[in-house]
Amino acid sequence: MPAVTDYITKNRQRYVDELFELLRMPTVSADSTKKQELIRCAEHLVRHFAAIGLTAKLVKTPGHPIVYAEWLGRPGAPTVLYYGHYDVQPADPLELWKTPPFEPTIKGGNVYARGSSDDKGQFFLHVKAAEAHFKAGDGPPVNIKFIIEGEEEAAADNLEKYIADNTKLLACDHIIVSDTAQFDQGCPSICYGLRGIVYMEIIVTGPNRDLHSGEFGGTVANPANVLGRMISRLHDDNGRVQIDGFYNDVVELSTAEKAEFARLPFDPEKYRKSLDLPQLFGEKGYTDLERVWARPTCDVNGIYGGYMGEGGKTIIPAKAGAKISMRLVPDQDPETIERQFIAYIKKITPPSVRVEIITHGKARPVVVPTDSPALTKAREALRKAYGTEAVLMRGGGSIPVVETFKRELGVPAVLLGFGLPDDALHSPNEKMSLEQFHRGILTSAYLMELLAE
Ligand code: BES
Ligand code: MN
Ligand code: MN
Repeated sequence: MPAVTDYITKNRQRYVDELFELLRMPTVSADSTKKQELIRCAEHLVRHFAAIGLTAKLVKTPGHPIVYAEWLGRPGAPTVLYYGHYDVQPADPLELWKTPPFEPTIKGGNVYARGSSDDKGQFFLHVKAAEAHFKAGDGPPVNIKFIIEGEEEAAADNLEKYIADNTKLLACDHIIVSDTAQFDQGCPSICYGLRGIVYMEIIVTGPNRDLHSGEFGGTVANPANVLGRMISRLHDDNGRVQIDGFYNDVVELSTAEKAEFARLPFDPEKYRKSLDLPQLFGEKGYTDLERVWARPTCDVNGIYGGYMGEGGKTIIPAKAGAKISMRLVPDQDPETIERQFIAYIKKITPPSVRVEIITHGKARPVVVPTDSPALTKAREALRKAYGTEAVLMRGGGSIPVVETFKRELGVPAVLLGFGLPDDALHSPNEKMSLEQFHRGILTSAYLMELLAE
């Protein structure tokens, strides 16, 4: 191991330079004009894996390609599968970025770029740990497989299908996913639960064209007004979701798990201040950590309709719409929630307009055991790299493949997150701490050793 950790330290700068190459690629999976950029990034990764010593291939899908790489040079040793995603969220609103989103810039020990923490900086650290084992030793002590997808942020189902069709190829003993954040700075963490999601869009249509709001106002329903009223009926004043049956399958937290949450050093006041909020808000009867990790939500992600240009324009818009996502917890089923949402929207749509409802994506919630061998080894690796004990946490976000891995491969993933809570995922000025990147590489290199035992 000393040779491996030495190699990691000596190559620190080059590792960062290589991460920069990835970060310069605008791999926005939601943007159809970026299709070639995603292909270019996938091809780059295939070459990179091959150069390190793995066998790598690009897998075409109806959407963006998957990159698969493996090295099975340790017959008899366990096989570890690493997952990551090379696609990123859209960078807009661009004007709020202090440095360009696809020109990685170092400031104060952080690299600022879209995708730096989510997820390029995080999956790449395992690639670099593997490289260190190849170049400074006689290869990794375990068999390794990498699956890096290009559609995580797009909630597509091509990866799920690929996994279901290739369970033999992907067979493994352990799965490591670095795509979450630590509980706090200086607080290495392992995540054991993620929320699911159902992502919908509703489009309310009124008259066949935008109308003069004076000439027609008072005789037709305004789709934007109607949409607003409908959205207001998604919750009551206490933040309870009003969709019929929404909470039917929600598993309440055990007293023990509530106590675990309460033991974590969470400071609501610090949290409030970090978001510049006058007050926090959430469903009554739960703590903030309970709300974000173990309670379902329903949130408007965007609203459109009517005139948004400069000055005023007196119209009744022909249509208005909203993108709405619901975060799910065990044992809520995305299909059931989708049906309940559609039924509720239809119920509250007044007869004066038409409504169209579209499903954009679905993923199941997941919780993994906190005593699996891999998770125990991951704690040990964190202890070695950070010199401090890791905490167990859940996450409020979704990584659809984690549930797929559990169901299709029968392996619970270890969510070994090296992000920090202020990394600004999906926001302007996303960053990754370079110290976390470096320590993550060390942790991963240790973990390969520990999993070989
Ligand atoms: N890495 C995130 C998920 C995440 C972030 C989990 C922080 C826990 C803590 C992932 O890239 C993500 O953003 N997923 C999407 C999935 C959706 C588009 C289906 C999400 O959660 O919105
Ligand atoms: Mn991610
Ligand atoms: Mn994301």
